[in-house]
Amino acid sequence: MVVLIAPSILSSDFTNMQREIADIERSGADWLHIDIMDGHFVPNITIGPDIVKQIRPLTGMPLDVHLMISDPDRYLDDFSEAGADIITVHAEATTHLHRSIQKIRSLGKKAGVSLNPATPLSELGYVLQDVDVALIMSVNPGFGGQSFIPQIMEKISTLKKIIRENDLTTAIEVDGGVKLENAKEIADAGADILVMGSGFFSHEDYTETVRRFKETVGS
Ligand code: DX5
Ligand code: ZN
Repeated sequence: MVVLIAPSILSSDFTNMQREIADIERSGADWLHIDIMDGHFVPNITIGPDIVKQIRPLTGMPLDVHLMISDPDRYLDDFSEAGADIITVHAEATTHLHRSIQKIRSLGKKAGVSLNPATPLSELGYVLQDVDVALIMSVNPGFGGQSFIPQIMEKISTLKKIIRENDLTTAIEVDGGVKLENAKEIADAGADILVMGSGFFSHEDYTETVRRFKETVGS
């Protein structure tokens, strides 16, 4: 099983975004993770669909758009039109999760559902078969540079077991506090995609980071 790396531009140099994205793509990274925060669902504000639209022509990497916003249904059309490939909503942020998932799929995008660290896996119970990507938060969302919450390791392996037992194709993505040092343990627990923010951008040579990542996780 190939484990993918998705650098989160939250920790990149926003004043040199074009250069950053070119360097990330050249490094061999798989997905570009884009964190959207509204200052309401999470205590931080980042960027909106207009910036995603400007990023789109700069890269062929799939744009993995992580919506940390309340009532995300209001913006699904906008992020779809902006060029997102994967659109992830938080289960805690939408009243009608099933509707949000169906809407994303009707736009021809991969549907992701994210769970905060304290949210049980049972939230995914009746929708899992329609979820392309389950984004398991391993920090409380809002900021880069936080530490991986150890209990999440068991959450990942439990979800993997559920996916296998039910013969589903849902991919598990893990976001928050992922470093080269813990990547293997997280991948072994069952993660298919690892988001890396501060752990990626703290090393200048992105190509070397991706090489070490692939070597570490054995993909
Ligand atoms: C956190 C964001 C993450 C963040 C991860 O709310 O969703 O994607 O960029 O950053 P690190 O890897 O530094 O924890
Ligand atoms: Zn994220």
